[in-house]
Amino acid sequence: MLTTTPNPLVTLLSIVPARAIVKGVARKRANGELYRVAALRYHGRMHIDIFTLFPAMVRGPLDASILRRAQDRGLLEIGVHDIRAATTDKHHVCDDTPYGGGAGMVMKPEPLFAAVEAVYAGGPVVLLTPQGRVFTQALARELSAHPRLSFICGHYEGVDERVRTHLATDEISIGDFVLTGGELAALVVVDAVARLVPGVLGGEDSTVEESHAAGLLEYPHYTRPPEFRGWAVPDVLLSGNHGAVARWRRKEAFRRTRQRRPDLFAAWLAVNTPLTKADQKILRELEAEQA
Ligand SMILES: C[S@@+](CC[C@H](N)C(=O)[O-])C[C@H]1O[C@@H](n2cnc3c(N)ncnc32)[C@H](O)[C@@H]1O
Repeated sequence: MLTTTPNPLVTLLSIVPARAIVKGVARKRANGELYRVAALRYHGRMHIDIFTLFPAMVRGPLDASILRRAQDRGLLEIGVHDIRAATTDKHHVCDDTPYGGGAGMVMKPEPLFAAVEAVYAGGPVVLLTPQGRVFTQALARELSAHPRLSFICGHYEGVDERVRTHLATDEISIGDFVLTGGELAALVVVDAVARLVPGVLGGEDSTVEESHAAGLLEYPHYTRPPEFRGWAVPDVLLSGNHGAVARWRRKEAFRRTRQRRPDLFAAWLAVNTPLTKADQKILRELEAEQA
């Protein structure tokens, strides 16, 4: 599960029933052999709160496509909260100069604590920060097991350290680069997590087979027409032979992962060794093709 820092707010309020379950989903390998994929799934509606100084930056993407549909179908509830609305002073000040001097402004703790505490009802409180744990599909899956999630978007030089130590339970970075604010980062995380909520995508298989789900990159996809500008779809995909299609896809997933992400492939091998006979054969073929 997520590593959490001690948070009095969470200790007081985390009495949400744990409805996440781990189940083994049966899958078939290309050679017909059955294996199980552990799936951590929360069954029910997910509630997400986003705390930001710029609500307009997040509302548009939340209002379109699959995330909009998930909200309309009652699978997802998203509250967007303007941190400035939680200020009590006349000028609604949310930032101030850093103690000790230096460039930029720092987000003040009072409005942030007030905004979160006004609606908090349990679950991880995630601070988006370039200093956090780097976001991955595995982390998206961990988060998707929680019925409630909160996201704090920083801006300017970031948030007062007391927000990190006493309000946030988790810190997530979406990569080793610096954005102007946490809003785009929160959207990235919310999108990746929401699509793992059962029912949001419809076909559950799409999240089991895709890139990163099982430690491999996904195989290439083709659709009609069978030939475009002289570039043909591989014959096997038109053959109607499901076993051959599954084997081709597995081989292409191996090929892609080895070529593009040798680090991922090595990690996958470490977990999946000894390989099945069918996978060993595919690997030998790829090695021979490369030689
Ligand atoms: C300009 S950044 C602050 C960077 C901060 N001074 C530092 O050096 O760590 C402003 C805000 O953008 C968000 N942010 C920037 N880069 C991010 C990243 N890679 N992942 C997640 N959030 C990020 C954070 O919420 C951060 O508080």
